[in-house]
Amino acid sequence: MKTYVTTAIPYVNGVPHLGHAEDYLLADIYSRYRKMRGDDVKFQAGTDEHGNKIEKKAAELSKDVKIYVDENSEKFKEFIKKLGVEYTDFIRTTDESHEQLVQKIWQKLDSHIYKSEYKGWYCEGCERFVTDNEYKENNGVCPDHQKPYEHLSESNYYFKVSDFKDEIKSKIESNELKILPEFRKNEILKLLADTPDVSISRPTAHLKWGVKVPGDDEQVMYVWMDALSNYITVLGYPDKDISDFWPASVQVVGKDILRFHAILWPAMLLGLGLPLPKVLLCHGFILANGQKMSKSIGNVVDPIEVLDKHGLDAFRYYFSRHIDTFADSDFTWEKYENAYNNELANDYGNLVQRLSNLCKKNEITRDFLEKRKVLEDGAFKNTWDSDDAEYTRLMDNFEFSKGIEYAWEKIQAVNKRIEDTKPWSVAKENPEEAKILLSSLVGDLLNANEMLKPFLPAAKTVEDIFTNEKIEPPKTPLFPKEFKK
Ligand code: MSP
Repeated sequence: MKTYVTTAIPYVNGVPHLGHAEDYLLADIYSRYRKMRGDDVKFQAGTDEHGNKIEKKAAELSKDVKIYVDENSEKFKEFIKKLGVEYTDFIRTTDESHEQLVQKIWQKLDSHIYKSEYKGWYCEGCERFVTDNEYKENNGVCPDHQKPYEHLSESNYYFKVSDFKDEIKSKIESNELKILPEFRKNEILKLLADTPDVSISRPTAHLKWGVKVPGDDEQVMYVWMDALSNYITVLGYPDKDISDFWPASVQVVGKDILRFHAILWPAMLLGLGLPLPKVLLCHGFILANGQKMSKSIGNVVDPIEVLDKHGLDAFRYYFSRHIDTFADSDFTWEKYENAYNNELANDYGNLVQRLSNLCKKNEITRDFLEKRKVLEDGAFKNTWDSDDAEYTRLMDNFEFSKGIEYAWEKIQAVNKRIEDTKPWSVAKENPEEAKILLSSLVGDLLNANEMLKPFLPAAKTVEDIFTNEKIEPPKTPLFPKEFKK
């Protein structure tokens, strides 16, 4: 099966912060899971490089805006790699190919575009036109960015979202466009009902750093129209047939940008005659002391510091298990240290050390594991049998924090079984029986370990340890108390 997984493309008006990791990790977990199930996976990532706030930030730093976005885009790329994310495509909205394709998309939407005057509010942090009602509800200040809305009075192109509202509504209601978690669906349906036609351009007098509107030198495209298109321009649309990978299997977004992906984006797709993505997976925020972590607020935690503290597996473990897939969750160093020492190192690291030691002492070999049908042709073959139906259900429903929790219970069950069966005592009485017991314990561990693979790259190392010709415990613990880079 073909699977297409997408991630929101971050603005490059700063360097990556901890909150940015969320999109990539969720997408990577799903992508690795689908690959385990045999899918051909395409995974897009990229950077959103136009718009007012980037233009302004570069000016503040007295930097050429192109040089500025080049530098920061590279930092995001490095960050994604450091997270162990197996993306297949990286797109920048300043790529010439993207810019040309977006202009073609605009032309294809022509019959749904008209020109009018915009008099109203704008939030530069969100890069969003704000309705009068919202302005009143929020007392003129954006709750996400804590900045007053700007008043605009300008001539813009509008996109007739009204042409598609009924169709979008019915597709969301019927789950043809599935919004997860479910409770967000109602939020969106309410917003959709109140959504006016959307302004999709800005006069060059107010914004220069954008893609030119075809046939009008005085207007550039609204940054969201340009950015949303990345999901299909990266596949080559409209020059290429994209039906192999479109519609996307899942598009991962944060809760602050769901509205763009659940209203404007579907309207654009319907206008282009393209199918809608199957799932919009909307995650919550990573908070610092109960507040959204954001560049504009200035309370960001440096993800590189977190990564360097205990390594990649610790990072991925914490963010998969202790940051809820759908709800807001706090990051604190204390919780992070606890999860590392008391869970990852104790439950998993020690189990691997202990069981591999016992296997070495009792001379468990690959041949023996094959004879006991734990391995087949030297490898562990996951059968995804009914035992794992619950895990499969959770992963298929994108309940990743529950999926890793389920796998962890299996890891803890292996620890308990070792305690209960005491293979070291059995070995004294009956070495042959101890070997049979140990091989079955290895089977249990490999089974639980398989379920950890989408989350932890270390699961591959663990598999290698137990599928070697001779089992050797790792020379240094997998998760030492003092992590050395
Ligand atoms: N450029 C737009 C996205 C365009 S997609 C066509 C944008 N950029 S962003 O840099 O502000 O955010 C990128 C992603 O990071 C979004 O999914 C956003 O929700 C997510 N996060 C930003 N801060 C976050 C947290 N503190 N916690 C979790 N995710 C958050 O929006």
